[in-house]
Amino acid sequence: MGRQPVKLAVVGGRRGAAFDRALEAFEERVALTAICDLSEEVLAEWRARFPDIQTFVSYDEMLDKSDCTAVFIATPVFLHAQQAVQALQAGKHVVSEVFAAFTLDECWQLVETVEQTGLVYMMAENYCYMRPNMMVLNMAQQGVFGELTYAEGAYIHDCRDLMFSADDQWTWRGTWRTRSIGNGYPTHSLGPVAQWMGVNRPGGDRLVSTATWMSRPRAASLYVRDRFGVDHPAASDESWKMGDTATTVIRTQKGAVIVLRVDWASARPHNMTHYVLQGTQASYISARRHHDREDHLIWIDGVSPGSSPEGDAQWEPLWDYSAQYEHPYWRDWGAQAADAGHGGGDFFVLKDFLDAIETGSRPPVDVYDAVTWSSIVPLSAQSVARGGAPVDIPNFGKNLA
Ligand SMILES: NC(=O)c1ccc[n+]([C@@H]2O[C@H](COP(=O)([O-])OP(=O)(O)OC[C@H]3O[C@@H](n4cnc5c(N)ncnc54)[C@H](O)[C@@H]3O)[C@@H](O)[C@H]2O)c1
Repeated sequence: MGRQPVKLAVVGGRRGAAFDRALEAFEERVALTAICDLSEEVLAEWRARFPDIQTFVSYDEMLDKSDCTAVFIATPVFLHAQQAVQALQAGKHVVSEVFAAFTLDECWQLVETVEQTGLVYMMAENYCYMRPNMMVLNMAQQGVFGELTYAEGAYIHDCRDLMFSADDQWTWRGTWRTRSIGNGYPTHSLGPVAQWMGVNRPGGDRLVSTATWMSRPRAASLYVRDRFGVDHPAASDESWKMGDTATTVIRTQKGAVIVLRVDWASARPHNMTHYVLQGTQASYISARRHHDREDHLIWIDGVSPGSSPEGDAQWEPLWDYSAQYEHPYWRDWGAQAADAGHGGGDFFVLKDFLDAIETGSRPPVDVYDAVTWSSIVPLSAQSVARGGAPVDIPNFGKNLA
């Protein structure tokens, strides 16, 4: 008898809808069973697309009444950890949108619940699956970079239009900026870098200490003045706590340094990616812009033209090495993944989640990775509140073999 498909329920119907094509790609392995959203309008859209789907306004009721075996959590970030714990306790596997948890207590609670239930928990960090990031991962794992000493990651994307809805109401992203400080969105930038460094993996590294500095808030109030006028209650800088930009520095146990930048308010073109990796044998700089005018660049000592420090070392396009170092995921499933949307991320997230459920294997972004990367949110707030002082990063994976 064939394997039963995973019965998937989605909570939070907006981002969840983006997984349509990935679900189609795996139609024999996963069946969309239920959707939960507070908005009747969102539920009606899902019913129109999937006439057999069960719809729920209450999450408790969905966990109770739907026969789903797994839940995809795509609600506002404040809800992720609590909804994940509830689903795990109800016996469901969980794949959660970024980021996983908002406080250190939530991080520990997630780890404990996954350890107690033995169910699969994965964070859907799609940036880890971008083709260049996976190729650099493959090269780092094969030792091309030698010993890793330094990395950068950044999320730079003016998202101020998401602070208010089309009918001018505050969204959760908007109110969040009025209440929180620090680095509020670290996992797109840290996830790929942590994988390159083998963080939480046997023989790899561990994140041990972090500090964050934050600029003052200017961009949000300027946006509010432009959109609503100077009399709006959020038109002054004092209404906002989250600075325009924050820089986080992380030290690893092996002595590498990671620099993260987050900026989702400054007026500027979108930087889809910004990554750097430096090892003793090779150096990588990602293309910075969301267009084709820059290449992802690599220089490999003894392989690429020229030598360092003589000064004639020459960058080469990363793709010149794809025949040798393309990640097996992109070599084997690249065309299918690209079709499924979000640069392949949705396809590979779903593939790895289903693989982990079906084989009992550890997902590539498991609960230890999810909370280690997400802990930068509360830890950066602590550091900013202490004037940029370093704070320790807990060893969430202390029970890992
Ligand atoms: N990985 C990525 O590239 C990426 C991209 C966009 C968003 N996200 C993440 O996805 C999540 C959702 O973002 P979004 O832009 O879709 O937000 P959104 O506000 O547009 O949608 C959230 C949805 O959740 C519903 N909701 C809110 N509270 C709920 C509750 N208690 N129970 C059930 N439904 C509830 C809302 O009605 C809404 O439909 C966020 O965590 C965000 O960080 C990730």
